[in-house]
Amino acid sequence: MYITRICADGFKNLKKVDITPHEELNIFWGKNAQGKTNLIEAIWLCTGVRSFRSTKDKGMIDIDKDHMSIEVSFMDSVREQTVRYAMDKSNLKDKSLFLNGIKVKNPAKLFGKLNCVVFTPEDLEISKGSPENRRQFLDLCVSQIKNNYSNTCAKYERIIEHRNALLKSISFGKSSKDELDGWDIQLAQLGSYISLLRYNYTKILNNFASKLYGEISQGKEKFEVSYYSTVFSKLEGRKDFAGDLAREYLDVLKRNLDEDIRAGFTMKGVHRDDITARINGLACREFASQGQHRSAALVLKLSQAYILKQETDDAPVILLDDVLSELDANRQRFVLSKIGGMQVFITCCEKNIQFEKNQHGRLYNIEGGRIKTHKRKEKKD
Ligand SMILES: Nc1ncnc2c1ncn2[C@@H]1O[C@H](COP(=O)(O)OP(=O)(O)O)[C@@H](O)[C@H]1O
Ligand SMILES: [Mg+2]
Repeated sequence: MYITRICADGFKNLKKVDITPHEELNIFWGKNAQGKTNLIEAIWLCTGVRSFRSTKDKGMIDIDKDHMSIEVSFMDSVREQTVRYAMDKSNLKDKSLFLNGIKVKNPAKLFGKLNCVVFTPEDLEISKGSPENRRQFLDLCVSQIKNNYSNTCAKYERIIEHRNALLKSISFGKSSKDELDGWDIQLAQLGSYISLLRYNYTKILNNFASKLYGEISQGKEKFEVSYYSTVFSKLEGRKDFAGDLAREYLDVLKRNLDEDIRAGFTMKGVHRDDITARINGLACREFASQGQHRSAALVLKLSQAYILKQETDDAPVILLDDVLSELDANRQRFVLSKIGGMQVFITCCEKNIQFEKNQHGRLYNIEGGRIKTHKRKEKKD
C-alpha cells in the first residue's frame, strides 16, 4: 500500500502540511527540531497503533493552538481510504476519528487499515537493550497482525498490577492467599494466549531474520531468534491455550506463590519473558559487537515488514526516522535494497542521500514545521 496524501495542522509544530508523496521514496531533510519525527508520528497515529513515542494527548496539540488535525489517504490493494484524526484542547477525551468519513469510536477501530513499520534510532538497540524493549517490539509486531491482541496485553497488565498489590497486602497480613484465585485464573488464560501468539510469531520472525542476516553477513554468520518463556518449557506444537496451557500456567503461579509473596511481585509470566537473539550460537545481548547489534536490529525490523506483507497480502509503508545516518554505507544499501517495492519515508539531516539507479522519489525540506517540496528527484531509467 502507499500513502497518497498527508495533511496535518496543529499537530505539535506541524503547520498546514499538505503533500502528495511519491509511491516509492520520500526523503524529508531538515535541521534538528524542525518537525521530522513529528511528521512520522502523525502518519503513525493514523495506523491506530499506540504511539512509538510516548506523547500524551495534550502534547499532540501545538502549544499555541486549540486544535490539531491529521488526514492521511492511502491506496491499499483494493481502494483509496482516508483516516482523519483530530483533537481539541478543550475536549481531549473526545478524539474525532474518521475512517472514510465515518466516525469511529477509538484508535483500535482503525486496526489493519493503514499498515506501517516505523524504524527509529532506539530500534537499533533491540538486541542489546532491556527485555522490556524486546517484549514491546514483539507485542507491537503481533498486534499489527492480530486484532484484539493489544487489548489482551492491556488486560494482562491491569491484572498483574492487581495481583502485585495483593501479594504485598498478603505479606503484610492484610489479605489472604485465596483472594488471588480469581486473578490467577484470568492471568493464566490471558498469559497462555499471549505466550502462544508470541511464540508462533517468533518462529516466523526467525525464518525471515535468519535468511536476511545470512545475506547481510554474506553467509559468514548464523543468526537465530527464539522465544524465552519464564512459564513454559515447551510451546512447540501446542494450541490449547484455554485448556492445557492455562492449567500449566496456573500451576506455575501456584508453585511460585511463596516466592512471589516474599518478593512482592509476580516473578513468572509473559511480563518477564524475552526473545533471545543469537549469532553463531552466542547470545547477542552478551557477546555481539556494535556492528552485529546493528545488523540484528535491521533484519528484525525488515522481517517485521515482510511478515506484515505476508499476513495482509499488501506491503506496509516504511517509516525510517533518522536511522540511515546511523548506518554505514553497506548497511544503508542493504536496507534500501530490501525495501524496494514498498513506499518509504526517510527523515535525515542532510539532503544528499543518493537514490539508487532505479529508485524514484521526492525530496522535501522541513523547517519550523512547514514542508516544502525541495526538488523533484526522478531519475530517468
Ligand atoms: N505540542 C507542541 N507544540 C508546539 N511545538 C511542539 C510541540 N511538541 C513538540 N514541539 C516541537 O517540535 C519540535 C521537535 O520536532 P521533531 O519532529 O522531534 O524534530 P526533528 O526534526 O528533530 O525530528 C521541537 O521544536 C519542539 O519544540
Ligand atoms: Mg527526529
